[in-house]
Amino acid sequence: MNYNENSAIGVFDSGIGGLTAVKELIKLLPNENIIYLGDTARVPYGTRSPQTIQKYAAQNFRFLKSFNIKMIIAACGTVSSVLSTMPSYSDGDCLNGFFYTGVIRPAAQAAVSATKNKKIGVIGTDATVRSQSYKSLIQSILPGAEVYQKACPMFVPLVENGYTQRDCIPCVEIAKEYLTPLKEAGIDTLILGCTHYPIISDVIADIMGSGVKLISSGGEAGRYAKAVLAENELLSRRQEKGSITLYCTDSAELFCKNAEHFLDGITPMEIKTCTLDSE
Ligand code: DGL
Repeated sequence: MNYNENSAIGVFDSGIGGLTAVKELIKLLPNENIIYLGDTARVPYGTRSPQTIQKYAAQNFRFLKSFNIKMIIAACGTVSSVLSTMPSYSDGDCLNGFFYTGVIRPAAQAAVSATKNKKIGVIGTDATVRSQSYKSLIQSILPGAEVYQKACPMFVPLVENGYTQRDCIPCVEIAKEYLTPLKEAGIDTLILGCTHYPIISDVIADIMGSGVKLISSGGEAGRYAKAVLAENELLSRRQEKGSITLYCTDSAELFCKNAEHFLDGITPMEIKTCTLDSE
């Protein structure tokens, strides 16, 4: 164990979606150093096989472990879903030299606490929905819960390309197509099971209506990470603000441009392009 309370928190995703977890971390733990990796050269992950997703995740872990890290958050529903089928990746556990969480348990617990009618919707990537990870965990925590899932594969390209405004017609029309069956099912809680989706939460909220509580999987993972660090006495005692460093695997300029509307409030900021090992 090389980490201590002032080591950094590593966060990764296929693209900009994991910044939803970073935003929550900055709000809750402003004195922590955060190192973010967005694997923008290979986004999207959600249409790939579990084997490929596992391989990409392993490379992301290796990259973040090359820093002095106390915790890694897989701020990606797709990676979290695939890893949740492997007994060695349990949310909140200490793995090989760092604490780990994905987004599944944090979001499932929040949804179970929020629902009144036990009808919970889950939207995510194809890989996430195929894995049944949210559904099986929700039903193990809340027996009798009805879980309605829908894969929304067009949302990630829309978000990565900046089609995120509340009145963006392509975004609104695609969202209506995906979300109408969930609305008709009468859910009162909807897990935004892909961390990109909270970036279009205005569009989603307009369609679902005020009676449906939206759960941000990235935001919940940030809150869960804080609880794990507190429990293990690993919260930073640094007095000054922590540093935020962002890495991506494609053009930093492009990352910055696409994430611009979302990065607001994330300062100080460095954005660098990196290369992942190919083992
Ligand atoms: N943000 C991601 C997730 O939470 C990744 C989506 C993708 O790359 O397809 O699933």
